[in-house]
Amino acid sequence: MTDVTLTINGEERSASVPPETSLLRLLRDEFYLTGSKLGCDVGDCGACTVIVDGMPVNACLMLAGQVDGRDVVTIEGLATLEDLHPIQKAFEEFASLQCGFCGPGVIISAKGLLDRNPDPTKEEIKDALSGNLCRCTGYTKMIEAVQDAARILRGEKEAA
Ligand code: FES
Ligand code: FES
Repeated sequence: MTDVTLTINGEERSASVPPETSLLRLLRDEFYLTGSKLGCDVGDCGACTVIVDGMPVNACLMLAGQVDGRDVVTIEGLATLEDLHPIQKAFEEFASLQCGFCGPGVIISAKGLLDRNPDPTKEEIKDALSGNLCRCTGYTKMIEAVQDAARILRGEKEAA
């Protein structure tokens, strides 16, 4: 078994798991954080995207042992009890999701981008979302939502 202690959404968590356990399985099966979705399980769809030490990664491709001592942010870490995160609000306002399966991964990729680059170009947003597959909505409304959230986070627009 592999012992893992990491910070998830600001809280220290520990588990002992078989060495082949992925970060995604650790999050979903050990900590019941099921917002990160299991899609392809081979790094193709982005539904499992989480932020590790500030960078979006495919949680299905990382082993739990690789995140020992590291900082992980999942979709559950964005909203507070009182309010959605501005990116989540923008996705709602722009109707950027249909079935929603890709949503947690897309929103986490967008957060990773806006944390590093508060004023991205459309091309930079497209590039940041390029690893997230959506088979329902298309990307135009997602890009518009990320642009809107960026304006709100920069203080140029009031949140809805
Ligand atoms: Fe990880 Fe598809 S489930 S990339
Ligand atoms: Fe259904 Fe993206 S909204 S896959």
